[in-house]
Amino acid sequence: MAESKTRQRNGKSAMSTDANANANTPKSTTTTTTPQTKSTTKTFGTLDLLRILGGLLLLNCLLSYFITNDSVLWGWRPWFIRPGPIARYFRGPLLLTPTQLSLHTGSPPGTPIYLALNGTIYDVSSNPRIYGPGGSYAIFAGKDAARGFITGCFAEDGNADLRGAEYTYVASDIPLPPEFGGEVGEGGEAWQGKLTGAQKSYREGELRRARKMVRDTIEGWASMFRGEGGKEYFEVGKVVREEGWLEREEKKVLCAQAVKGRPKPRGPGSESGGEGQDAGAAYRGGGR
Ligand SMILES: *[C@@H]1O[C@H](CO)[C@@H](O)[C@H](O)[C@H]1NC(C)=O
Repeated sequence: MAESKTRQRNGKSAMSTDANANANTPKSTTTTTTPQTKSTTKTFGTLDLLRILGGLLLLNCLLSYFITNDSVLWGWRPWFIRPGPIARYFRGPLLLTPTQLSLHTGSPPGTPIYLALNGTIYDVSSNPRIYGPGGSYAIFAGKDAARGFITGCFAEDGNADLRGAEYTYVASDIPLPPEFGGEVGEGGEAWQGKLTGAQKSYREGELRRARKMVRDTIEGWASMFRGEGGKEYFEVGKVVREEGWLEREEKKVLCAQAVKGRPKPRGPGSESGGEGQDAGAAYRGGGR
């Protein structure tokens, strides 16, 4: 320990003497002319390089502007070159309760339009024809309708409860758990009943895939609402909710449209025809 410390100290002092030696070299050589010219050519070199790079950058921007007809960055519009996000950056994130959020639907015209997606609020004021009063997606304004973005049921799923929404993407031969609308005595039994290993792993696999699809879908929309797709939208803040709000909500039945749209069976037996026509039977407790 002590030995290594001394070695360290020695190393340090050795380094500092080196540095001193280096620092001294230019001083002692200023008297001669050669090193000075050397250093000037070096500065010129760097400047030249900067000029060339600057020129290329300018050319690139001009080219982009003439080709895209509006962007100097080939359509790349990071938040720090857009006025909305800059203003928001300096004001800090907006924290709204669901009730406060519900006031921002763009009514009266010209006021901000906000929508939220799984707890994050976005400003979509730039597109009142879509999100403003009377717009085709006006139903999403002023609320967190993450569930609706997954199930496609705009009217009944204008909420942020994503529990069970993944069944939208789970193959139709896997019964819905009763709390999400599965028939009690069918789905219910199947979820407690005996499944073979293959059936179990099929179900697990489907659920895993479906949850990933939910995450990817939400992220896809979020990236659009952050303005990454070229729209004038941007993130403004977060929805603040009471602790445990989700647990206090009742679980929601998967809407009819999402049930109808569930993917075709692709599990064990689903391709074997005949019996495979009702591959879900096993999951429903064996009955046909
Ligand atoms: C939604 O937000 C919650 C809480 O922040 C997070 O745990 C969850 O992973 C998010 N879900 C998706 C699909 O992004």
